[in-house]
Amino acid sequence: MVESEYKQDETKIYADRKGPAKMAEGIAMLRAYESSKPEDERICYDPYAIHFINPKILEYAAKHRNEANTTVENNSGSIVARVRYFDDFVKKLIENGLEQLVIFGAGYDTRAYRIEELKEKVKVFELDHPGTQSFKMEKIKEIFGSIQEHIVFVPVDFEKETFSEKLFSKGYNRSLKTLFIMEGLLMYITPNSVAETLSFIAENSGKGSAVIFDYFPESVVDGTNKLKIAQDIRNFAIQQGEPLQFGIKDGEFEEFLNTFGFSNIQNVTSEDYKKAYFHGKNENRNVCELLYFAHATIE
Ligand SMILES: C[S@@+](CC[C@H](N)C(=O)[O-])C[C@H]1O[C@@H](n2cnc3c(N)ncnc32)[C@H](O)[C@@H]1O
Repeated sequence: MVESEYKQDETKIYADRKGPAKMAEGIAMLRAYESSKPEDERICYDPYAIHFINPKILEYAAKHRNEANTTVENNSGSIVARVRYFDDFVKKLIENGLEQLVIFGAGYDTRAYRIEELKEKVKVFELDHPGTQSFKMEKIKEIFGSIQEHIVFVPVDFEKETFSEKLFSKGYNRSLKTLFIMEGLLMYITPNSVAETLSFIAENSGKGSAVIFDYFPESVVDGTNKLKIAQDIRNFAIQQGEPLQFGIKDGEFEEFLNTFGFSNIQNVTSEDYKKAYFHGKNENRNVCELLYFAHATIE
């Protein structure tokens, strides 16, 4: 598949889709591809991701299988590592008594449906743009017949509304031990929305609560990083109509989170996650050196 040819086709396919975020669908596609691999080869596993992909995209990928596989294989390393790292983090917190999970910009995140332990003990709040969320709710009903009781949907546009009132009105309890996931989100919202969200977390959650997110350095977002991969990431986001808006200045990561009052601040580099998950057949797989994961707690 020639890249420009794919982009043209993709634009036509999406032109008649209003509402759902393209990026959320793109990420689901990478999860679905990884999940189709044998158990001992895949980095992450999400059996439901396939349901969120436009059938026309699947048809296109099937027709151009080799090229599609190569493109996905070369560009999915950091994303599948992110899914796995965040999954492992959720599971560790469940073992340590997690009571509530809040997923900001949930998109087609399926953790609430595939991590069994959540179903018994943890209420899950999924926040996302109304357009993306209503499409997801339809799909969830198609897959499972209904929406499980432990899941609460909170439709919100972070740029236009205050999410806190909506969250409280849906039953969020500020004294519980809570994990906040922001996966593939912070880079797409304004610095003000990022600050509002992190302040809310620091001020409205029980002892031992935690936040996990990923980010790009600010130089990727403002275009001053001249690496080709940095320019490609920035231009791709613009092309998708979801331009990058927020990044963290090099060397200021810890200070940035400290200002909100977080503790146990940890920065996870591409070298760290490559070492943790990429063995055997995955040993030489590409990861994106500019995508960092981060987590911290509220004590
Ligand atoms: C790249 S997707 C990631 C989705 C999901 N977290 C994942 O990792 O698969 C970004 C998500 O953020 C949501 N989002 C972006 N800007 C938003 C906004 N202003 N208000 C609410 N949701 C937003 C999009 O709808 C989309 O679902």
